[in-house]
This record gives sequence, C-alpha cells and structure tokens, in this order.
Amino acid sequence: MNVKFAPPASFALPGPAAGCVDSVVMKVPPARRAAIGLAGLALVACSTLGCSSTRPAPPAPPEEASVKPGINDNFLDPELDVDKFVERFEGESREVFANRAAIVEAIGVRPGSTVADVGAGTGAYTGLFAEAVGLDGTVYALDIAPNFVEHLERRATEEGHLNVVAQLCSERSVDLPPNSIDLAFICDVYHHFEFPRSTMHSLHEALREGGEVVIVDFERIPGVSREWVLGHVRAGKQEVFAELDSYGFDLVEELEFDGLQENWVGRFRKR
Ligand SMILES: C[S@@+](CC[C@H](N)C(=O)[O-])C[C@H]1O[C@@H](n2cnc3c(N)ncnc32)[C@H](O)[C@@H]1O
Repeated sequence: MNVKFAPPASFALPGPAAGCVDSVVMKVPPARRAAIGLAGLALVACSTLGCSSTRPAPPAPPEEASVKPGINDNFLDPELDVDKFVERFEGESREVFANRAAIVEAIGVRPGSTVADVGAGTGAYTGLFAEAVGLDGTVYALDIAPNFVEHLERRATEEGHLNVVAQLCSERSVDLPPNSIDLAFICDVYHHFEFPRSTMHSLHEALREGGEVVIVDFERIPGVSREWVLGHVRAGKQEVFAELDSYGFDLVEELEFDGLQENWVGRFRKR
C-alpha cells in the first residue's frame, strides 16, 4: 500500500454575484476599514496558502434534487433477494471485497472508536470494523434498504459482533446524533447517493471534531473505464474531491493498493 499526499481540491470562496459590488457604496469609518482590510488579507492569504481548516463548514443544504434518480431501485425493492447480493458483493473477483482486509488495516481504525459503515449492504466490511474497534467501540451498519438492515442485524448476532448496531437510514440523511462518530466509511456507495449534499451534510454533523470520511469508489475515466462504469457512476474522482471540499471536508490523502485497478480510496477530514 502506498500513501499519496494530495492537496485539497480547489474551491471558490462564496461571494456576491458578479455585478453587485460596484453598485453598492458604503460609508465605513477608517478604523473599521483597516480591520476589514486585515480580515480580507487574512482570508486571501488563507485561501492561497491552503489553511483550509479555518474555513467554516457550509450551511445546511436547501432541498436537493436527485442527482441519479432510480439508482437504488433494486435495493429498495421489498422483494430484494439478499442472498443474490451476498454472492455479488462478496466474491473474490470483486476487488473491493478481495482487498477489504488491507483497506481496513490501512485506514488505521482506533480501538474504542465509533465507525459508521454507510451503505453497508450485505456487511462485507462491517465485521472487520467490528473487530478493529473492539468491544469498547461501536459500528453503525447503515443502509436505506430494509432487507439489508435485517440481514446486517442477523449477521452481527450470528458472528458474535455485539458492538454492531444495524440501522435503517434515509436517502437524505444518515440519521445519527450530532458528534457521535469518529469515522464514516463509504465503499461503493458514494455514487449511489441520490442526494450527496444532504447525506454528506448529515455526516458532517454526525462526525466529531477531526472526524474522518474514507471513500472507496470507481475510477471513472472516459475512454478508459468500462462502459458499465461510465453509465453507472456519475462522477470521476476529481469531481468527487471537489464535491467533498464544497461539503466541508478536506482531502487528507489518497491511499493506493496494488490490488485495486478500478477503484480509488480517499481519506477526508471534517473541517
Ligand atoms: C453497491 S452497494 C455497496 C455495499 C457495501 N458497501 C459493499 O461495498 O459491499 C451500495 C449500497 O449503498 C446503499 N445506499 C444507497 N444510497 C444510500 C444512502 N443515501 N445512505 C445509505 N446507504 C445507501 C444501498 O442500499 C446499497 O446497499
């Protein structure tokens, strides 16, 4: 496994719409002007030099339209055949399954910490996180598909993972209390988020200070990626990095694994 440092994706500072500034004349006392000038300088220096952790998190998103309507229809089907998906998600030919132990090890999960396995599906990763956090920790296995959540609950009991809490969440929110988790893991799920801004906002609130998000997702490179990937996955890696930045997460590093040909792994930190 190699670790690649990557600077935060570029971002645009929020500001007035073009054409608005010149038309407003304000009377400001000189002392106040100096303070405003200094604050402005600090802001420019910060954005240039990259001290992004001082930037405030974005406010709650307004009602968001689906970015990929229908992408979860098969998971939401009450007739969802869980066994079929166990076969599909937990075969050694699926590289994110074959490399699951290496990925969890590289993340460096702390014993006693609280992890959210967001879109846990059949639980390919849940048990590994349960072992990593230990009995003093907790793993929330979250999904929007009731059949998967029932399965996750049964599986945790069968495997003796008493620290796993399987919980149904909504398509717009992970529905966790504020400041309740240390790490959110999102494997093969980000491109399934129909309302990524809302879901990531809910995660931002659920994460404790300094909390992290690890995303594993498909490389989407026109002319290189498989046709299926190009049709199924809406955004390439750089686009996802930019989205995460706008949702209040700094890219910390990209993790590389010899066994991953089709997927990237990024670690982000809440700011
Ligand atoms: C391709 S599966 C990946 C399952 C698992 N993470 C894995 O890698 O084996 C995508 C999962 O994300 C879930 N999902 C989709 N949108 C979600 C959302 N907004 N919040 C939580 N789970 C979601 C789906 O129900 C499905 O179980």
